[in-house]
Amino acid sequence: MQLKVLALPGDGIGTEVTREAVKVLRRVVEKFSHTLDLTEGLLGGIAIHKTGQPMPDETARLAGEADATLLGAVGLPEFDNAPPLQRPERGLLGIRKILGVYANLRPVRTYRSLIDSSPLKNERVEGTDMIIVRELTGGIYYGTPRGIEGSGDTERGTNTMTYTRSEIARIGRMAFHLATQRRKKVSSVDKSNVLETSQLWRKVMVEVAAGYPDVELEHVLVDNCAMQLVLNPRRFDIVVTENMFGDILSDEGAVIAGSIGMLPSASLGEKRPSGAFTGLYEPVHGSAPDIAGQDKANPLGAIGSVAAMLEYSFGLMEEAAAVNRAIETILDSGRVTADLKPKGASATTTQVGDAICEAL
Ligand code: IPM
Ligand code: MG
Repeated sequence: MQLKVLALPGDGIGTEVTREAVKVLRRVVEKFSHTLDLTEGLLGGIAIHKTGQPMPDETARLAGEADATLLGAVGLPEFDNAPPLQRPERGLLGIRKILGVYANLRPVRTYRSLIDSSPLKNERVEGTDMIIVRELTGGIYYGTPRGIEGSGDTERGTNTMTYTRSEIARIGRMAFHLATQRRKKVSSVDKSNVLETSQLWRKVMVEVAAGYPDVELEHVLVDNCAMQLVLNPRRFDIVVTENMFGDILSDEGAVIAGSIGMLPSASLGEKRPSGAFTGLYEPVHGSAPDIAGQDKANPLGAIGSVAAMLEYSFGLMEEAAAVNRAIETILDSGRVTADLKPKGASATTTQVGDAICEAL
């Protein structure tokens, strides 16, 4: 198979983890006799520096032509005070929107060899295996009106949380579909005791659920969900929620896995004629400028995202499973970065990537 992939390394540790993820992708392609057509593009702070735009037109064009896009991370401290339109993050929101990748799948699970890396008690986190399905192209991240206007005491900031029935229904169908392949439970997270968007969300989820009689639906308020995630994470199978709640809860989920560096993600859009999904694949972690350029970052979230790409955008299940097995092998061998091994000798980003390739 020919794999046409766009890599957008982005900023900070994004470049380092993407380099290792691409190395692993090349190894998979070689081992399973595929071919790789890889292009690299600019997104985020680096794109602002080189072109003045967080998502240059050229990047949008390349993403449209690729079968799948692999992204590192965006964000640089020098843009912290820039207006929203000129921030690196705007590039990320832009690429998600133009690709139409409305469903962000963020699996959260524990690995036996990492169980002690979680600050939570082992018996609480052991056996956790959920997917947070985050709506990614709507809600308060994109709603208008937005902005800051006026001055003095009446200066006002505005954001708008808005969802249409069809936006809720399609993410709901994705969640229920995934649940049918797993433990058949959907936890829909909202704030329907306060927000109208959440009331509509709940109503539409109930309607979608009617089409999946074998799947159990529960509603969880977002504040309670934040608590349940650390009290009893095993109760969750599929967690489906709107954009900003999903952003917040998925970072909390990282505590269960032991390190945010471990979490991969797949952002999926419509199915193409081939049956494969349009997809954007990125680790959940950010650009971590404090450790950038030091060969310290954990590349396993990015490498796990390659596995997700092989599965969802190319339908290469065996190849995806091989990458996931290699990740387990490396975790068991203890050749891991410092975030997973605060004491004792840790491996560098490059060494972890090399070890995964060897295992493959
Ligand atoms: C994430 C990140 C992004 C988001 C930022 C960098 C815009 O936190 O992917 O979780 O909020 O979606
Ligand atoms: Mg986030």
